[in-house]
Amino acid sequence: MDMDISIKSISYGTDEYERSIDIRNEAFRKPWGLDIRDEDLTGDKDMDMFGGYLGNVMIATIFLTQDDEETARIKSVAILKEYRGKGLGKYLMEYVEDIARKRGYKRINLMGRVSVEGFYNKLNYKTISEPFDYHTIPHIDMVKEL
Ligand SMILES: CC(C)(COP(=O)(O)OP(=O)(O)OC[C@H]1O[C@@H](n2cnc3c(N)ncnc32)[C@H](O)[C@@H]1OP(=O)(O)O)[C@@H](O)C(=O)NCCC(=O)NCCS
Repeated sequence: MDMDISIKSISYGTDEYERSIDIRNEAFRKPWGLDIRDEDLTGDKDMDMFGGYLGNVMIATIFLTQDDEETARIKSVAILKEYRGKGLGKYLMEYVEDIARKRGYKRINLMGRVSVEGFYNKLNYKTISEPFDYHTIPHIDMVKEL
């Protein structure tokens, strides 16, 4: 990856947090005519939120949370469109997987869009559900053993 990328924690309720909402809105809701700000986002305060920065500008998000003592969950993997396909998604995933591993988790769950199943397969996530709709978009449950 040939970019000046850094990853920083995002604190709930800050300007950086607002920026993370905008990035998720662009990636997950606006293309379908939806607005993520219409939803209850208070659960975000219980997550470890990270921003991917190009220089000083946040261009990506990735969140880490817990399903149970042995199982972490990755959420909100979103990269602004013009920065996709350059290895940043893989870099963010491996960064957060490393944190989960160091915290002693044995596996990571995620809910992925069917359209990006191949991205997660390359990172060794296995599909463990039939497709189901979430906000009208087909998704699957996936898991990776750490
Ligand atoms: C999905 C997403 C996070 C991937 O990030 P990215 O930076 O574009 O992906 P990378 O460049 O790191 O790709 C890593 C590998 O996965 C592959 N890949 C990327 N997107 C893919 C897709 N949709 N389907 C299959 N393979 C894919 C790449 O070709 C690359 O393969 P390589 O290692 O053999 O070269 C990004 O495209 C995105 O934000 N999309 C919109 C939001 C979204 O759908 N998020 C996921 C919700 S579950």
